[in-house]
Amino acid sequence: MGNVVRLGVTFPPDLLKDFDELIAKMGYESRSKAIQDAVRAFISEYKWLKEETGSRAGVIMVLYDHEVRGLEETLTDIQHDFQDVICSTLHVHLTKRDCLEAIAVRGEAQKIRKLAESLASKRGVKLLKLMLTSP
Ligand code: NI
Repeated sequence: MGNVVRLGVTFPPDLLKDFDELIAKMGYESRSKAIQDAVRAFISEYKWLKEETGSRAGVIMVLYDHEVRGLEETLTDIQHDFQDVICSTLHVHLTKRDCLEAIAVRGEAQKIRKLAESLASKRGVKLLKLMLTSP
């Protein structure tokens, strides 16, 4: 094994509990290995997106905690900044805390990517999935 770097990362307790339960079921013996694989999957997903160009249409699905102070307003502000690629937004009050938004998008792939990254990187956003097709 080559060099390794140790780092301290913080997790919300329920996220770590879900992760540990899942990786145990999958047969992982080491949490570090599972986190490394998750990071690799994240990198490959976003690398693919970086290389997409041309006109695309699709949906961004965002799951977020609306009790995180200022988050709802921030997500709305971002969507206003990208109004030229957003066709429509569907908001679902999923649970007492969680909101789900399905944002229909159409336009230049790189602009859609920037929108997705702007949303995904905010604290309180738990999940973001982007599905694109060529119109
Ligand atoms: Ni809501």
